[in-house]
Amino acid sequence: MKTINIGLIGFGTVGSGLAEVLLSQKERLVQRSGLTLRLAKVADIMISELPPQFADTELTNDAKALINDPEIDIVVELIGGIEPAKTFVMDAIAAGKHVVTANKALLSQEGKEIFAAAAVQGVEVGFEASVGGGIPLIKSLKEGLVANRIQSIMGIMNGTANYILTRMTDEGVPFDEVLKDAQKLGFAEADPTYDVEGIDTAHKLAILMTIAYGMNITHNEIATEGITEVEPVDIEFAREFGCCIKLLAISRNHGDHVEARVHPTMVPHSHMLASISGAYNGIHFSGDMVGNVLLYGLGAGKLPTGSAVAADIMDIARNISSGSVGRVPSLSYLSEEIKEIGITPMEELSCPWYFRITARDEPGVLAAIAGILSKHKISIESVMQKGRQEGGPVSIVLTTHTAGESDIHAALGEINALDMVSAPTVKIRMLDEGDEADS
Ligand code: HSE
Repeated sequence: MKTINIGLIGFGTVGSGLAEVLLSQKERLVQRSGLTLRLAKVADIMISELPPQFADTELTNDAKALINDPEIDIVVELIGGIEPAKTFVMDAIAAGKHVVTANKALLSQEGKEIFAAAAVQGVEVGFEASVGGGIPLIKSLKEGLVANRIQSIMGIMNGTANYILTRMTDEGVPFDEVLKDAQKLGFAEADPTYDVEGIDTAHKLAILMTIAYGMNITHNEIATEGITEVEPVDIEFAREFGCCIKLLAISRNHGDHVEARVHPTMVPHSHMLASISGAYNGIHFSGDMVGNVLLYGLGAGKLPTGSAVAADIMDIARNISSGSVGRVPSLSYLSEEIKEIGITPMEELSCPWYFRITARDEPGVLAAIAGILSKHKISIESVMQKGRQEGGPVSIVLTTHTAGESDIHAALGEINALDMVSAPTVKIRMLDEGDEADS
């Protein structure tokens, strides 16, 4: 039986998860491939020994030696971050090794260079675990949906943010309080910036867009807003409008340009994504042949993510074994077919909106606000005021029909400047029915 030797860099949560998956599923993997996937070496500078069940695996603190070991067929990078991960990945490719990584920050920033180098060397780069943890999103796009023009991608791609928003919704507790508890319970990192500011979601959207549309895009081209400003009062008002608030990644394919954005969004309770709760992810693709596809599952965790890394290893191992390396292009499209496609500027986008205006409770306030909205051709869908506090500040909540970003910003500038408005207006985009369909 052929043995494929794996060199793993990084024995942290995901690395040790991969090792467990390879060990516990060893027999099943043989039954499904006729191959032995052997964890030959692990490089990690933080540990001095491997758990006893990995007695057949050599531990080193020298990742470069692992990369250059002629015995190693596939290098798995699971240390995360840009450096030294990029150097390890580029060195492995230069040494003619196939690479598997879960590193979304690296791929969404440096992917172009990495995939170009891999194409020159004729090696594969697997990255299933970089988006959606254990959910087979990349394989679905590259293989299951190969006969489709992907029209849109929309989803909840960050379990931490979704966990926080779910608890804020269920318990009516403020963001800071839930975050602290989530950190204690291990649902949020000590530094949660990437997760709560939407950056991690933008990394993942950039990777999905690359393979869905066959384009070059880096995460910093994606307009990104996080959830730190979401307040329980807005979640409560959203409920009254039949909605919940989710951190969504949204992209629509217009052919010669594509939309790409990450922001808190009011999602109707009747929508499938509204039911994705807690630390779960849910990603929706729309294809011109298949229609709507929703994939749901755990977007993080040692065994789910280890399962995705193992799937990439198996794909490459099968290709090595059958002499068909490169059968499925790493980025789904042939490298010469990857295009530069423009990103639609945010100010050209439109959607329905939710506003919470804090204004003095006195005659003429609503008329002044309505006048400004009307001047900017923004049509009001509904208005709600809760409570009564003559002369004091109250919340006036309104939703609009579809309105353009630039009109909204101009109108809110004028509304916030009104003497009777005492705090900056809270604005949240609402899910547009068109977000799902083709344009
Ligand atoms: N930090 C990510 C999340 C998991 O909370 O979903 C890894 O991508």
